[in-house]
Amino acid sequence: MKNIAIFASGNGTNAQRIIEYFIDSKNIKVSLVLSNKNDAYVLVRAKKFNILSVVFNRNEFYNTELILDKLKLNHIDFIVLAGFLWLIPHNILREFKGRIINIHPALLPKYGGKGMYGMNVHKTVIEANEKESGISIHYVNEKYDEGEIIFQVRCPVEKGETQDSLAEKIHKLEYEFFPKLIEQILTKSKIINN
Ligand code: GAR
Repeated sequence: MKNIAIFASGNGTNAQRIIEYFIDSKNIKVSLVLSNKNDAYVLVRAKKFNILSVVFNRNEFYNTELILDKLKLNHIDFIVLAGFLWLIPHNILREFKGRIINIHPALLPKYGGKGMYGMNVHKTVIEANEKESGISIHYVNEKYDEGEIIFQVRCPVEKGETQDSLAEKIHKLEYEFFPKLIEQILTKSKIINN
């Protein structure tokens, strides 16, 4: 059994989708949900599915071993960032080298970096008159959105597109591809980008 930990800072619709996708799996399980915000809705979702959750503050995350210890204690094999706002500290990066991925709601390397989160990304893409956007799934390193890209899929940005309509399109792509990609990585099957 491979155990996944999901880090999320907000609503957690992707987290829920991943939890549901693996709910009957014999090989993969979401075992832990972690958040830097004690009122993040992702915590309500985790509770609904009886998944252990952990909330931490900046000091605990960056200056102590608390979170690394929790990950070890729960035998976590793989970390998924699903709408998580903070950089991952060095101790966790070192221990989980090549085993942390993030989803970003745009076509990296464009529209990434600090502050590029959720709606802010869609607003910037629309204001830049981009004709397409999409999702990027990438390995995580010590910088925002700069790790090796594993998977991208595109969607058109239509005339009159709003932040909300683009967010909806992007979320649909995320729900469709993110859990499958996690499964493919964890079972080492081929990643198919169609
Ligand atoms: C998702 O669209 C994800 O790609 C984005 O935050 C949203 C979280 O939605 N992540 C980033 O922008 C990371 N830079 P959710 O909480 O409903 O899953």
